[in-house]
Amino acid sequence: MPDESDYLPLIQRVLLREQQTPGALLPILHAIQAGIGHIPDVAIAEIAHALNLSQAEVRGVISFYHDFRTTPPARHTLRLCRAESCRSRGAEALAAQLREQLGLDDHGTSADGALSLRPVYCLGACACSPALELDGQLHARVTPERLRALVAGCREEAKAC
Ligand code: FES
Repeated sequence: MPDESDYLPLIQRVLLREQQTPGALLPILHAIQAGIGHIPDVAIAEIAHALNLSQAEVRGVISFYHDFRTTPPARHTLRLCRAESCRSRGAEALAAQLREQLGLDDHGTSADGALSLRPVYCLGACACSPALELDGQLHARVTPERLRALVAGCREEAKAC
């Protein structure tokens, strides 16, 4: 695991490139997350200083947008569809199962770092509800058994590393 100071050269490059841009905060956050995988604490202080904002203001923006992370990403990302068609065909039961299996509500990362859970509102597979996306791959007509197997596969792989 890198030390947070290892991130400073990338953060400084991004700030140098973007800080004069109007509305620079979002492009800076996106660029740092793209380069590091998340937005580390050290970046928050640097961004606040460069843009003459408080750290609380920077954190407020990060927490407002669900796509920003302040911790390293999990090995896998599971996005369970919570829109109408999937809700009416079992997505709520699948969400409850995920809560039980991972100890997570709609959003977050499992304690073992294997899986991040995110809600999504329609994956364009309504005819095959309920649906989810695991690491960008669509899974349709998901049953509790299939979901259990998908989650177990992600967790086993994490243990083997
Ligand atoms: S509502 Fe779930 S895929 Fe459309």
